[in-house]
Amino acid sequence: MTTEIKGTQVNGNGNGVGAETLLERPEQLSDEYRKVLIETLIIAAQQEVVVMPWQATAFETAPDLGAKISIAGSIQDELGHANQWCLALDGLGYDSREAIFGVAPEDYKTVFVEHFKIRDYVEFVMAQAFFDRGGRLWTLDFEKHSSWAPMRRVAKKVNFEQAFHVFHGAQWTRYYLDSSEDMRRHVTQLAQELFPHGQQWFGAPDSRKSRKGQLDFRIRGWSNDEMRAKWMKSIAAFARRAGFELPIKYDEGTGQYVSTIPFPLLYDNEKRAWGTEEVDWSDVIALWRRGGPDKLEIVSKIHNEEWGSDLW
Ligand SMILES: [Fe+2]
Ligand SMILES: [Fe+2]
Repeated sequence: MTTEIKGTQVNGNGNGVGAETLLERPEQLSDEYRKVLIETLIIAAQQEVVVMPWQATAFETAPDLGAKISIAGSIQDELGHANQWCLALDGLGYDSREAIFGVAPEDYKTVFVEHFKIRDYVEFVMAQAFFDRGGRLWTLDFEKHSSWAPMRRVAKKVNFEQAFHVFHGAQWTRYYLDSSEDMRRHVTQLAQELFPHGQQWFGAPDSRKSRKGQLDFRIRGWSNDEMRAKWMKSIAAFARRAGFELPIKYDEGTGQYVSTIPFPLLYDNEKRAWGTEEVDWSDVIALWRRGGPDKLEIVSKIHNEEWGSDLW
């Protein structure tokens, strides 16, 4: 019996695409499947790699040794994640060093919020609560749905640590929220700034996405909008439990959590503040392409290994 995935035929259980088909060996992949898989792994590897120098920007703001250890621990985890995605690339015959060291910093594919230095340790833990929550959904999707079996195994290891990052971030966000009135204002204000970054973290809406290969080949199972909806639900629940406001409401009609501010908004790189009017996605994507002010400095650290004395 055979099971078909677009462009690929393997021995399987006959349930068809979307069921239990798992591809284990590179020779089972069609050229097109392999191409999309490699593109996906390059994005995953670059994302994980850039988290390291990005999180390192918070290091000198850490209030105590425990906080420094938390940042260093997270960076070490992210290195492990990057290593896993790189090994997966190498296993497909693609030299992972090319994906990391052969790409100019300006051409790196990283989420926009990582183009800005982290300003203080509160922002670091909130970034874990907001964006590792997003990252975890991305890799949870691979773990649950990917037709590429090695992808599921890598994602399982990554998710284990991602869950810890989210938990750590949530716990310390709560701590700061309840520590003083001033700190409560700071956390609440930061939350308003991080929230639209979180919404945009999942990329362009499904209606705009031209490259659907990842879904067609079931390298992943959830669309951008599906992941965004899951994140909205999750972050809304966290904010409610922790006791701070986010511009989200539950829509009875659709059963979805929706934002009460326009989407997408445009970010002002200099003021580090969001506009108030809805813009076209092409404007957002153009801004991402231009990059934020710290992108080159952050990504270049990977190439130059300029960790500096702050880390030690
Ligand atoms: Fe990671
Ligand atoms: Fe993480």
